Amino acid sequence: MFTPKQSIFHSINKMANRKISDFAGFKKVLDGAKNIAVLTGAGVSAESGIPVFRGAGGFWRTHRSQDLATPQAFAANPALVWEFYHYRRNIAFTSLPNNAHKALALYEAQCLREGRRFSIITQNVDGLHQRAGSINVIELHGALHKVKCTNPKCRFLDENYDNPICEVFRNRGDPAAEGYNLPVIDKKDLPKCKKCQKLVRPYIVWFGENLDFKVMQAAREVVETCDLCLVIGTSSVVYPAAMFAPRVLERGMPVAEFNLNEEPADEMFDFHFPGKCGTTLPKALGIEL
Ligand code: APR
Repeated sequence: MFTPKQSIFHSINKMANRKISDFAGFKKVLDGAKNIAVLTGAGVSAESGIPVFRGAGGFWRTHRSQDLATPQAFAANPALVWEFYHYRRNIAFTSLPNNAHKALALYEAQCLREGRRFSIITQNVDGLHQRAGSINVIELHGALHKVKCTNPKCRFLDENYDNPICEVFRNRGDPAAEGYNLPVIDKKDLPKCKKCQKLVRPYIVWFGENLDFKVMQAAREVVETCDLCLVIGTSSVVYPAAMFAPRVLERGMPVAEFNLNEEPADEMFDFHFPGKCGTTLPKALGIEL
């Protein structure tokens, strides 16, 4: 049914046939899929109250989130960057999975029972897919509940769910709740490695850093073998995730997008479901919550 794109005529034809909110058409494709890849971004967690990166929610105090998520920002001011991550950890740890997370977890369980493969590749670091019950989750950009030692001789990777991660951040970090003239945080009060007592950093892939090689290999394998790809709540502008869906299309496999935006991120996507994914996704997957 879905043959590789061979010509410009095929492409034009496909654009003309793109289905907006075609739940019945999507269900047929979904039912026939044996190996489903799901790519998620910040939009899947928006209804859990977690701010997205771009647009109105993309600021912390006067800083653009993207400007703090860099190795340069951490080298220049580790206390500021840790305070920002304390704030993000606090939100993630106190938020609950929403209906989009839950529908994906329940659909994965159904796939497992039916001997079909289902993989989530997420750009999110909030851990909400796993907390909803998803099992096969590839975290492309790291995780808020992990910390890594900055000492090159140690590099110990640890899980840490403490909130606050250290006392100095208690009652700090929420821009809506705090006043001005907060005391400056001393570097010695920042989170330390359990093994060598040196400074740890959030286990997050920051702008300008490479993704973990094994994580990237696992994601590639999913992208290269899937027979259906769902793209949920991502602006599809950050690489390498942004190339995953186009690669699936190149292989001649269908892509369905779920996004608040009315227009698809790529005109070649086969299906587009505009609106909140907490509503559209359970309906598309046929999951009752
Ligand atoms: N349902 C569906 N889509 C939504 C919803 C919702 N309830 N709310 C927002 N969206 C969509 C927005 O329309 C937007 O396209 O989610 C997308 C969020 O885009 P970004 O904020 O750019 O997030 P993301 O694509 O995950 O960013 C990728 O960039 O900053 C880095 O590392 C960070 O992982 C992040 C990466």
